[in-house]
Amino acid sequence: MPPLTPAQVLSGLERILGTEGMLTAQAPGPRGDLEPYLTDHRRLYHGRALAVALPRTVAQVTELLAFCNGQRVGVVPQGGNTSYCGGATPDESGRQIIVSLSRLSRIRRLDALDYSIVAEAGCVLADIQRAADEAQRLFPVSLGSEGSCQLGGNLSTNAGGIHVLRYGMMRDLVLGLEVALADGRLLSSLGTLRKDNTGYDVKSLFLGAEGTLGIITAASLKLFPKLRAFATAFAAVPDPRAAVALLARLREASGDRVSSFELIPRIAVDLTTRHIPGVRDPLDVSRPWYVLCELTSARAADPMEELLEQSLAGALEDRLVLDAAVARNARDRAAFWKLRETIPEAQRLDGGSLKHDISIPVGSIADFIEHGSRWIAANVPDGRLVAYGHVGDGNLHFNLNQAPAADRTAFLAREEAVKRAIHDLVRDFGGSFSAEHGIGRLKVAELERYAAPVELDLMRTIKHALDPNGILNPGKVLRTD
Ligand code: FAD
Ligand code: MLT
Ligand code: ZN
Repeated sequence: MPPLTPAQVLSGLERILGTEGMLTAQAPGPRGDLEPYLTDHRRLYHGRALAVALPRTVAQVTELLAFCNGQRVGVVPQGGNTSYCGGATPDESGRQIIVSLSRLSRIRRLDALDYSIVAEAGCVLADIQRAADEAQRLFPVSLGSEGSCQLGGNLSTNAGGIHVLRYGMMRDLVLGLEVALADGRLLSSLGTLRKDNTGYDVKSLFLGAEGTLGIITAASLKLFPKLRAFATAFAAVPDPRAAVALLARLREASGDRVSSFELIPRIAVDLTTRHIPGVRDPLDVSRPWYVLCELTSARAADPMEELLEQSLAGALEDRLVLDAAVARNARDRAAFWKLRETIPEAQRLDGGSLKHDISIPVGSIADFIEHGSRWIAANVPDGRLVAYGHVGDGNLHFNLNQAPAADRTAFLAREEAVKRAIHDLVRDFGGSFSAEHGIGRLKVAELERYAAPVELDLMRTIKHALDPNGILNPGKVLRTD
């Protein structure tokens, strides 16, 4: 049978979704036009699409996949479109369909006794956090994009963020999944059991798969006791080595109640105070490095602030800390976090940037930063290192910004050489070239370069088994041509 024409594909989709359930280039419809779905957050890619599907029900998702599989039409799942590697953007052919999960956004169930929540893929992360909070519970994943990223995207990128040190990554918080498979079958496994050793852990395949193995429609997730005591400090440290030593000390002193520990370089304070309205330097004297650390407890009466202050005082004596500001109220705390969370935006506003989302064993981070900084100083005269991030779990955003007055195009043209040097160094340190942002389209060649052949082979076998016609997010994670 000859392939369907684009018009026939569109009428097939319309039968499944109705006219109000899709956007096309010809008829954008009442929900806006296609444009915002075609470009990724970093504006690295601009694709084309035959249509954007906006399913309202799980049955529409499975029917749509069965249809696209039969007609060999590529399908690109999209959540909040905040990811960094182009995974949610269609290619330039104009033949792919974007499936936006944004209308599948119901919280199906919250069981406070069971410490679990079942939510649909299109729920915005902040809405899940809020629902948990209202039930006196905590859903701990927290990212700078939490007001717009969606659960399906978080699961599919295995998102990290600022609480991984204490609660783990997205994968660690999943109890069950509902997934529409390429052939239109539904894997429905939304149980909330903590223990279930019945064969292979099939659901884990879809976590971090970036939409290449199935479309996640819902998940059951772990909740935790709501946090009621917070102690937050913005502390200047002499160097990253002192930061890591301070972390080890705080973990011990607090009985492992450090929930965030972020490394911030001076340049990030300069960038955020310059570009982001309302951000102020919490300390009077300029220092080379800072940490933003937070101790938390579910017991309101726990003296977290006292504990933090005592630990910081000891660290000051031992010169692990040079100076510190402790948040006295929710406003101070929000101000410290605003500085940290607007670093990516300040970097973007300042000019061209090169991003490296890497992880290194925590004990080697200081050595890595020393080696990497030396390489950059010697080889990238028009760039400035902006190395910050979730140092508590070993994840650094080892980014560069163009130096003031540098030529943006010339600076960005160094991307390949800089990436190669940094990622090779990461490999030498036993680290990962993609800690929390995934592979998408951007890092397909990096995966081929750094993954072990046997690992790549297994990935291709799994892809072929679950998506033999290669319709699911073609060209993302693994090369399909
Ligand atoms: P999208 O960008 O829409 O999609 C991401 C991938 O998942 C794509 O491959 C897409 O095809 C696939 N996908 C989406 N929905 C589904 C589904 N239902 N089923 C199957 N596949 C699907 N990330 C972190 O990990 N940690 C951070 O600290 C962090 N901070 C950020 C701060 C800012 C300011 C910004 C803009 C981004 C940040 N990110 C961070 C990156 C991003 O927010 C995360 O990767 C997030 O998990 C992406 O969710 P999304 O809904 O936007 O996904
Ligand atoms: C962050 O931690 O702020 C992000 O993951 C990094 C970024 O936005 O570049
Ligand atoms: Zn991050």
